[in-house]
Amino acid sequence: MIKIGRITVSLEMREVYLGADLVPLGARAFGILELLIRARGATVTKDEIFEHVWSKSVVGENNIHVQLSALRKIFGEDRQAIRTIPGRGYRLTLAVETDESVEVPASAPTPRIEAGRLNSLPAMHGPLIGRDSTTAELARALTTGPIVTLVGPGGIGKTQLGIAVARSIADAAGMEVCFVPLASVARAQSIVSRVAEALGIAAVNGDAPELKDLAAAVQGRKLLVLLDNCEHVIESAATVCDVLVQASADVRLLATSREPLRTRGEITHWVDPMETPAVGAGLHAILACSSVKLFLAQLSAFNAAAISDRCSLEMIATICRRLDGVPLAIELAAARAAVFGIGRLIFELDDRFPFLTGGRRTAPRRQQTLEASLDWGHELLSDFEKLVLQRLGVFPARFSLEAACAVAAFGQLSCNEVTEAIVGLASKSFVSTTGGSNTKEYFLLESTREYALRKLYASREANEALSRKAAFLAKSETVPERGLGVVARRSLTVVEAVASW
Ligand SMILES: Nc1ncnc2c1ncn2[C@@H]1O[C@H](COP(=O)(O)OP(=O)(O)O)[C@@H](O)[C@H]1O
Ligand SMILES: [Mg+2]
Repeated sequence: MIKIGRITVSLEMREVYLGADLVPLGARAFGILELLIRARGATVTKDEIFEHVWSKSVVGENNIHVQLSALRKIFGEDRQAIRTIPGRGYRLTLAVETDESVEVPASAPTPRIEAGRLNSLPAMHGPLIGRDSTTAELARALTTGPIVTLVGPGGIGKTQLGIAVARSIADAAGMEVCFVPLASVARAQSIVSRVAEALGIAAVNGDAPELKDLAAAVQGRKLLVLLDNCEHVIESAATVCDVLVQASADVRLLATSREPLRTRGEITHWVDPMETPAVGAGLHAILACSSVKLFLAQLSAFNAAAISDRCSLEMIATICRRLDGVPLAIELAAARAAVFGIGRLIFELDDRFPFLTGGRRTAPRRQQTLEASLDWGHELLSDFEKLVLQRLGVFPARFSLEAACAVAAFGQLSCNEVTEAIVGLASKSFVSTTGGSNTKEYFLLESTREYALRKLYASREANEALSRKAAFLAKSETVPERGLGVVARRSLTVVEAVASW
């Protein structure tokens, strides 16, 4: 529990108490309160509030005022508890007292100095499954190169892996560790401020810190900075990394992002999905897969009955495969299975987005549903990339560049633009590539494909894209398959082609 003035707050349960009485407070007002608490006295900007509380909806500032007024009411006489900082945002003026038995998940952790060493790493969600060798490999990479970026789609496990790597380096090399979560940062300057805040640099005479202040602050320190969630501020993040590693040879940067930083000295590590069982795998092999271990661990966290029968385990193997071994999707699926049963879950996977919701209440909004996780990255695509992605939704398996152009280059998009968009989509973790340098092929993870198809059907382009695909297939001898062997497509009609894919 957290105490602020006369109120007590449970971030976990999203409840506010006055004495022993529960105070009714809407989700949006609570969202603002949560941001203020996590900022621990720092200013929370209006952009941050819009991003956190209203996600993608476009609303006027008036909405913030309405929620703030509800919030200020519960502070009673402490109405100055939330101070307006003109032109910037709001901050909490009262002390936040934390019951030591409860961890406050801080989105912008206050630097914690232990025996002279900064360590602001948050706690991990639980034991990291199946990443031991990767963690060791990345820790080694950081002893040679100054910057490692963990890249991959939302929910693949970048943040948790980053924390594990940082922890192992901090322990082994005696480094200070500074964790900087950037998800709620909206502007370039805010990044510098956020890093400065995490490094414990105070504003000088009320002036916002600058890059040179960051460079000065890291001098003479053996320091690892973990910049988490860089994709939406990628250019400023790259600049900050550049400045920090130029400033001192003892500084190391570990970044997580849906696309590489493309900065000097960067080693890019594409985070793999968790292993999934092969079709027809035996029980032993199923149980040895990290994705299945995660699913079972999550089920037991929900007090679901232990599972050991062949039929259920085979269903779980199918679920993990169909969720492409993406840990966030597996966690959400296990939470649903605990309530509705595994059989129902399998059935729902064809239309997964309405079903895979209900993540941890304390997780960021973009991790509470599978769709929100994809929305976050989708917002960062260019208009052309969005268009090409939705058109690529017609491919449930691998496709060549030629097939992509045949299907997606119409309307305002030329083949060159489609190619360029695919390069962009691949670098932003929406399209995966396979094959050697001569024979590159592309595919969408199943959830990404479902997402693209939903967008395609919501547009007026579905018929055009599907008939283009059928025409392309009719012209080709063979098509890339889902591992079921080669199928001649010459004689397929549009309907057959769509149904069989
Ligand atoms: N190796 C793993 N073992 C157990 N849980 C994991 C693992 N990787 C990720 N998770 C869980 O999956 C979810 C998404 O992971 P996260 O690291 O936040 O993904 P990303 O940063 O790529 O969006 C989190 O709830 C996390 O606890
Ligand atoms: Mg993350």
